[in-house]
Amino acid sequence: MRDDITNAAIEDYLASLMPPRPAPLSDMERIGREHGWPLVGAVEGQFLYMLARTSGVRDALEIGTATGYAAIWLLRALVQHPDGRLTAIEKDPARYTRAREWVAKAGYSDRFSIHEGDWFRELNNLRGPYDLIFLDILRHLNDENEALKALQLCVPLLRRGGILVADNVLCNALVLEDETEAAPIVRGIQEFNRAIMHHIDLESVILPIRDGIAICRRRT
Ligand SMILES: C[S@@+](CC[C@H](N)C(=O)[O-])C[C@H]1O[C@@H](n2cnc3c(N)ncnc32)[C@H](O)[C@@H]1O
Repeated sequence: MRDDITNAAIEDYLASLMPPRPAPLSDMERIGREHGWPLVGAVEGQFLYMLARTSGVRDALEIGTATGYAAIWLLRALVQHPDGRLTAIEKDPARYTRAREWVAKAGYSDRFSIHEGDWFRELNNLRGPYDLIFLDILRHLNDENEALKALQLCVPLLRRGGILVADNVLCNALVLEDETEAAPIVRGIQEFNRAIMHHIDLESVILPIRDGIAICRRRT
């Protein structure tokens, strides 16, 4: 099943408008399609790039890096800053190795450090502050409390004015289900969505692009 919850024809139209991507992004898209890699795709990749570029992001963190596709989009923006850097977390050892290889192919190794391990342990060891955090593990969490736990750990790591971007917040439209009947992982995302909208330190919006993207700005 495709992740996108919006009109598939519109999603395809938006993708068709994208100019060809340079290698290694284009190679990753092709190989990713063949092997079913999880990656955000060109439209969301460009979205992340635009957000980081227009906000002048210097320090960014990605939680759930897989093979490094979104990381390369972010790094394309970060290298515009003389000290721009991306820190990443990935628990799957094979993906961790692939991410390092692909980022090296893109020529960004000197701006990239990746931690192999579980997000919860790794986040507790990071000090930040970050201008942008890309949280891309919501559909991989183990229980309904973990999405809120991730939010609680991410907000203090954001610089004031920093942005938290969370992917898959519409969870294949499953967030429309009655909470009492939804699967634990969906309940966790439903709670996460309410929390970002009412969080005292955040102002937030959810965009129905692909599987739903939340953008939260830390205001204090
Ligand atoms: C949706 S994929 C990330 C895709 C990537 N952001 C991209 O677009 O190129 C989510 C990744 O999170 C990783 N992941 C899942 N649970 C994790 C955990 N507990 N700690 C760290 N990484 C985890 C998975 O191995 C997977 O590679």
